[in-house]
Amino acid sequence: MKKFLVFGTPGLVGSRFVDLLAAERQPITPEVHEVDITDKTSLLNFFEKKNKSFDAVVNFAAITNVDEIEKERGNEKGLAWQVNVEGAANVADAAKKFDKFLVHISTDFVFSGSKDNPGPYTEDVKLPEDPDEISWYGWTKLMGERKVTEIGGRVAIVRISYPYRAHHTQKMDFARNILSLYDEGKLYPMFTDQIMTPTFIDEAASVIEEICELEKSGTFHLASSNATTAYEFASYLLEKARKVKNVVKKGSLEEFLKTPGRTPKPARGGLDTRKTQKILGMKFKTWQQAVDEFVEQVNG
Ligand SMILES: NC(=O)c1ccc[n+]([C@@H]2O[C@H](COP(=O)([O-])OP(=O)(O)OC[C@H]3O[C@@H](n4cnc5c(N)ncnc54)[C@H](OP(=O)(O)O)[C@@H]3O)[C@@H](O)[C@H]2O)c1
Repeated sequence: MKKFLVFGTPGLVGSRFVDLLAAERQPITPEVHEVDITDKTSLLNFFEKKNKSFDAVVNFAAITNVDEIEKERGNEKGLAWQVNVEGAANVADAAKKFDKFLVHISTDFVFSGSKDNPGPYTEDVKLPEDPDEISWYGWTKLMGERKVTEIGGRVAIVRISYPYRAHHTQKMDFARNILSLYDEGKLYPMFTDQIMTPTFIDEAASVIEEICELEKSGTFHLASSNATTAYEFASYLLEKARKVKNVVKKGSLEEFLKTPGRTPKPARGGLDTRKTQKILGMKFKTWQQAVDEFVEQVNG
């Protein structure tokens, strides 16, 4: 059974991945004050020191505040570029040097989700060539993917999309945010034209574990097996979790994004997971099945 070194574990996705790992895995989970992935020397020293204690690396570490990162557009000295591109490359370099299998976590925000080129996207579809097509966050994640792929070694790029989980004190996610806004009477209109395939983190965690165990290299999409809209997702979630119907107002992301200064977001986005499911011999949950499980945990 493989043992893991995992970066970014205090975060929303990484912390759940570690929670759900079998205890025998004994993951090593350094926080940023122990190993900053932008510090190549300290990263290599850490790999050297722990070399015998792990076989696979999973990198969840990233700068993820999409609207804040937009203020850094074009700045390759900015924090998002340093962590999401250079830091990702440092981890890939170290993994290759020490011959470890690496899972690098990425996002559906690498795609434009535009009208001319809509999702859900397959794993090998053509990627944007111009940063202006996507958010700066998406661009840094895309450049991170590129660097990691160029460095090579035994690597899986795993893209996820609107990840959510039943509990986490530090960070809100798409699903818990809907519940919390509804409970406070502040739920804003949800978009009927926002195509998405949310990732239930509990399911993604077990798939990432499997990718490591099988050492499957390549690009993988981990998300619901069918697509939805933000409006449909919110309506279903509130019906299941709060037993209310027809409480969600309708909005349009296309209209919302027309206001100057908005951060670009994939309106017609989402990940097509069919190839990943086939390669791994797995059947991913529909978004409705995942919401049902999420609600059981939230209310449980
Ligand atoms: N959340 C989403 O909606 C979403 C959607 C699609 C894909 N993803 C991807 O999924 C992965 C995990 O996202 P998340 O939502 O869990 O992010 P998160 O909650 O923001 O966690 C990111 C983690 O990375 C750590 N980190 C930041 N800079 C670091 C550095 N220089 N060295 C070491 N660690 C560092 C952070 O530590 P501190 O908090 O201590 O700074 C934090 O624990 C990321 O690759 C992200 O791009 C996220």
